[in-house]
Amino acid sequence: MRTIKKRVYIETYGCQMNVADSEVVLSLLADDGCDITNEIAEADVVLVNTCSIRENAEQRIYGRMGEFKRLKREKPGVIVGVLGCMAERLRSKLSHEEARGVGQIADLIVGPDEYRKLPALLEDAWHGKKGVAVQLSRVETYDDILPLRTDGISAWISVMRGCDKFCTFCVVPFTRGRERSRTLTSIIQEVEVLSTRGFKEVTLLGQNVNSYKDGNADFADLLGAVATVDPSIRVRFTTSHPQDMSDKLIGTIASLGNICNFIHLPVQSGSDRILERMNRTYTSAHYRALVERIKVAIPDVTLSTDTITGFPTETEDDHARTVDLLSEIGYDGAYMFKYSPRENTPAFNMPDDVAEVVKSRRVNEIVMLQNAISLRKNQSIVGQIVEVLAESPSKKSEDFWQGRTDGNKTVIFPKGDYSAGTYVPVRIERVNSATLFGSIAVVASPGRVEEAAA
Ligand code: SAH
Ligand code: SF4
Ligand code: F3S
Repeated sequence: MRTIKKRVYIETYGCQMNVADSEVVLSLLADDGCDITNEIAEADVVLVNTCSIRENAEQRIYGRMGEFKRLKREKPGVIVGVLGCMAERLRSKLSHEEARGVGQIADLIVGPDEYRKLPALLEDAWHGKKGVAVQLSRVETYDDILPLRTDGISAWISVMRGCDKFCTFCVVPFTRGRERSRTLTSIIQEVEVLSTRGFKEVTLLGQNVNSYKDGNADFADLLGAVATVDPSIRVRFTTSHPQDMSDKLIGTIASLGNICNFIHLPVQSGSDRILERMNRTYTSAHYRALVERIKVAIPDVTLSTDTITGFPTETEDDHARTVDLLSEIGYDGAYMFKYSPRENTPAFNMPDDVAEVVKSRRVNEIVMLQNAISLRKNQSIVGQIVEVLAESPSKKSEDFWQGRTDGNKTVIFPKGDYSAGTYVPVRIERVNSATLFGSIAVVASPGRVEEAAA
C-alpha cells in the first residue's frame, strides 16, 4: 500500500449497472489505499464511467473529455481514466478516437470486466505509463467485492452481467459481453449488510434478469430470497425481457408484499415486422398476453416501458401500431427514444432510412400520447392514501420530502415529524404527468392507515 493517499473522483453516466459498477470500482480503489472525493478539484485521479447506448450518450462524454483536457492543463499530473461501455467499444478504434481526443486525454481505458486491474494500472499511470485493459470475461461478476456505498436508503445490486439477446440495435452484448450471474449466497449476504445499515430499498439489476441462474435457482427464487431477508426493505428489479418473463416470476411478485408491484417491460415497438427486425424474439401478441397475465395476477401493477422510434424501414403503419399498443396497455411511464445507429451492431448494416424530421415527429406523437396517459393514471390516484418511502428533501423546498410509492411514482409531501427512510401515509391531492403531491394522512392505529378524522 502507498504511503501518500491518492484522491479518486468518479463520474458515472449511463444505466444503473454503471452506478453499481462505479461502487465496485471505488471499493477496489479504497481497499488499495485511495481516498474517495466528491470534489473533482481535489482529485488526483478522475474517472469517468461511460455509456455507449446512443450517439448522444457518447457525445456527452466527448464534451466532458474536453473539460478534462483543460483540467489536465491546469493541474498536470492528474490522471484521467475512461471506464465502462465506451472504453470497451473504443478499444479497436483507439487510433481513430485519438483524433477526437480521447486517446490523448485518457491515461487509462478500462472496460467493464477489467476493474480488478485498476490499482495496478493506476500505479503504472503514476509512472507515466498509459494503460488499456478491455478484455471481456465469461466469468467476472465481482461477486466477492462489497460495493462502496455511502449510507442511504436505496441501493443498486448487480445480480448478473452481460447480455446474450443481441437485439440488432444494441451495443450492450458487445460492450458488456456474455451473460453470467452472481451467486445467490453473495447477493443475500449483501442484502443482509444493507439491512443492518438501515437501507430500505434494493433494486436487483441485470440487462435481462430473467436469465439469472445459480445452480437450480432462477430469478424468481433469487427475488423471493432477497425479499425474505428483511420485510421492511422494498425490492425492485430491472430489466425483464418480455420473451422469458415466467409465470413463476409473476407469482413471486404477487405473493410477497415487499416486492414492489412495478414492472419495467420494454416493448420497443408495437409492429411485429419491426420487432422481428430488431430480433426481440417476441410478437406484439405475446407481449399483450404477458401484460394480461401480469394484470390478472397483480391487479394494482404499475407498468413502464421503453420504445424506439424510427428503426430502419419503420413505416407510418408500424408507428401506428406502437401508438395503438401504448394506448391499449396504458403504461404509467415510458422512456421513448429515437433510433440511434450503433456501429458494429447488426442494424448498423440496415439503412437508417427514416428521415430525422420523421423520427422527431413520430417520437413527439408518442411522448404526447404517453404524457396524457401518465397524467390520466396519476389523476386516478388523487384522493387516495398511498404509502411513500421518504427518500430525500424535495429539490424545491427543504420543508418537503421526496419519495416514491410502491409503484415507483414520485411523491412530494410535507416533512412533518417523519425522517428519511420511513414509510409515510400520504393523501394525494394533486398530480401532473410526472409527480404526485400530497399531505400526510392521519394514521388511526398502528399499521392501519385511515382517512383523516371528519
Ligand atoms: N436490457 C434492457 C435495455 C437496456 S438499454 C432491455 O432489453 O430491455 C435501454 C433502452 O435503450 C432499450 O430498452 C432501448 O429502448 C434503448 N436503446 C438501446 N439501443 C438503442 C439504440 N441503438 N437507439 C435507440 N435506443 C436504444
Ligand atoms: Fe440490449 Fe436487447 Fe440485451 Fe436489452 S436485451 S441489453 S436491448 S441486446
Ligand atoms: Fe450504457 Fe453500457 Fe448501460 S451502454 S445503458 S452503460 S450497459
